[in-house]
Amino acid sequence: MNVNDSEVILSVLQDNGYALTEDIEEADVILANTCSIRDNAEQRIWGRIDQFKIQKKKRNVVIGIVGCMAERLKDELLKAVDIVAGPDSYRTLPQLLEAVRPDAPQINVLLSHEETYADISPVRMDKNGISAFISIMRGCNNVCSYCIVPYTRGRERSRDAHTIVREAQELWANGYKEVTLLGQNVDSYNWEGQDGNVNFAQLLEMVAAVNPGLRVRFSTSHPKDISDEVIHTMAKHDNICKHIHLPVQSGSSIMLDKMRRKYDREWYLERVEKIRSVMPDCGITTDVIAGFSGETEQDHQATLTLMEQVVFDSAFMFAYSERPGTLASKKYPDDIPYDVKTARLNEIIALQGRMSLKSNEKEIGKVMTVMVEGPSKKNKEELCGRASSNKMCVFPSRGEQPGDICQVIVDSVTSATLICRRLD
Ligand code: 5AD
Ligand code: SF4
Repeated sequence: MNVNDSEVILSVLQDNGYALTEDIEEADVILANTCSIRDNAEQRIWGRIDQFKIQKKKRNVVIGIVGCMAERLKDELLKAVDIVAGPDSYRTLPQLLEAVRPDAPQINVLLSHEETYADISPVRMDKNGISAFISIMRGCNNVCSYCIVPYTRGRERSRDAHTIVREAQELWANGYKEVTLLGQNVDSYNWEGQDGNVNFAQLLEMVAAVNPGLRVRFSTSHPKDISDEVIHTMAKHDNICKHIHLPVQSGSSIMLDKMRRKYDREWYLERVEKIRSVMPDCGITTDVIAGFSGETEQDHQATLTLMEQVVFDSAFMFAYSERPGTLASKKYPDDIPYDVKTARLNEIIALQGRMSLKSNEKEIGKVMTVMVEGPSKKNKEELCGRASSNKMCVFPSRGEQPGDICQVIVDSVTSATLICRRLD
């Protein structure tokens, strides 16, 4: 999401005469787009600010912090940098840059109920020109008790469906082969147009119809909101990739309740079953938090047994990081000792390694339709690319280019990769 936001920022700035440089020594303005989701993300930015200040000693350069950390820390950051701009203020960056002086730092951290940057065409920063992000909504109306996002990104708003489709059409016309629709909770997408509402399943359908050759992905799904309609829409269209990122956070219903996720273990398992009954080969990935407030050994074991039951293809796994201002920070003490949290996280990571391998082993002998991303990192004679399920495949090259589609058969696997031979 931040990559896409940076592309919006670049678009706004280019329209005002700025240009991107790869060389920090050459920059007149340095902007860091930031994340507040865990404390370590913020700590890295403080380290970066120190590096930027070295540049400032050498020459006159404007330093700006944009994004969630700007929104969260506001004036506190203004003591350290020249510009502080929150996620809904990017249109005003040219004015902020115009007004900034050594003794007059500039700040805009107003959150909006309407801003979706719908009319701004992001300037794509990826190198290969085949896969692009499209933001379909901003903000989040959930109040997961551990999460800072609703405070830094504001209320949920859905972007005009027609501008989303137009963006996908333009990308296709410019040679892009894959789009990923982005939102904190895509299943609650709901745009109220003049001729009626568009929900997420309908939006998926509209984007899939742009061209049968355009691959459509999306992230992130919320277990409480993912509907049968979305699942059936995915199944209906070959070009909607069969992958769902479905963060579970915990396998313990007690923890899920305290996290305010609004589903329990049984509900989650039912959704997984439903997905697999409609799309047996659908990739399912997840996010897990270890060591949330009050988590007992029994709760932790419930997470492990859920992971064993579901066999996720892959997972992002985190130690709970208390975020100031969240409901959890006010109501629930961050009471799991560091070494217990770390030990549980390590157990979760080790188990997921085994589950990823197990999930990949099931693919041996199956045919995968892969979109080439480029040469494999390890062997230049080989290509790499993702299957519909989002699994990474490597296979011998016949000179195909990024964006080409190849049919391959899975020969052997590691926990991270399917090693394939050519079918064609
Ligand atoms: N501590 C640890 N992980 C968190 N996440 C969100 N907030 C926190 C937090 N305070 C994780 C969740 C979410 C992912 C994007 O980040 O797993 O799904
Ligand atoms: Fe945070 Fe929950 Fe919203 Fe995801 S759904 S961004 S975890 S509040």
